[in-house]
Amino acid sequence: MKKNLISIKDLTKNEIIELFKFAKILKKNPLSKANSLKGKTLALVFQKPSNRTRVSFEVGMFQLGGKAIYLGPDEVKLGVRESVKDVARVLGRYVNGIVARTFKHDDVVDLAKFSWSPVINGLSDLLHPCQGLSDLFTIEEHFGKKKIKIAFVGDGNNVLNSLLVGSSALGRDIYFSTPKGCEPDKAVLSEARKCADKNKSIIQKVDDPKECVKDADIIYTDVWVSMGKESKKEERLKLFNGYQVNKDLVSNAKEDALIMHCLPAHRGEEIDDEVLDSKNSIVYEQAENRLHVQKAILLMLLGG
Ligand code: CP
Ligand code: NVA
Repeated sequence: MKKNLISIKDLTKNEIIELFKFAKILKKNPLSKANSLKGKTLALVFQKPSNRTRVSFEVGMFQLGGKAIYLGPDEVKLGVRESVKDVARVLGRYVNGIVARTFKHDDVVDLAKFSWSPVINGLSDLLHPCQGLSDLFTIEEHFGKKKIKIAFVGDGNNVLNSLLVGSSALGRDIYFSTPKGCEPDKAVLSEARKCADKNKSIIQKVDDPKECVKDADIIYTDVWVSMGKESKKEERLKLFNGYQVNKDLVSNAKEDALIMHCLPAHRGEEIDDEVLDSKNSIVYEQAENRLHVQKAILLMLLGG
């Protein structure tokens, strides 16, 4: 049966562990599985712009011996030129996998429902599982299985939602500070909390960003204005007073706390140059790891 990756919860803990083992091998030797996806194709159906997700999937398919076909916002016109159902049914017959970047989360869910081929969520308004997985891989590279404190400060968006799902699945402790009205998705949070209870890990909302990052090993942030929310920029920016990741905020964390950001960053908004470019910032490592982890995902879902 085909397997999709719509949310990190589609993977068991053991599958995530396997995925990370594979990613580690691929990182060491990028061409070690050079012919594994020979003759296979991957469609990238993207309604939003992308640098990391698009390029890492395209490069990843090439390095595994397959081919990626990019279909931008003006080509497929998901749900406008054609229903999501029909796009899924047709594409699913041509290609061996689909990566979808959509506004509505339900569109990725429907693509998966109606496509014969596996569907990977390459970011929806609700979740960003490829990012979450690759960030947890990066965290494991730095800390192994050690108990650490991850502190997320900023908008309770798709990236935080996926970090909550992934952290709880792996039993990692995560604290978050989000302004009123910008909390993570209620249903995602409640499910992640149940999973965290089972795995004896902590998910904790902390109102004060300074308190949230206190003694943290990692400070993570993401943009305050996600793709699709640009028209609300002015009013949104006002909500985040005190939430910028800058030297002052970082001084509350452990001295060697690592700085994470999924990128793209809006420098001067959620994070300043000094912190983003500091020696403790691992944002480009995070970006690189998208390639290695997604290659492992492709092998798991398309490899047969
Ligand atoms: N982090 C991330 O998904 O980047 P892109 O939007 O550039 O793909
Ligand atoms: N939260 C951001 C992530 C970009 C990778 C967005 O959805 O625009």
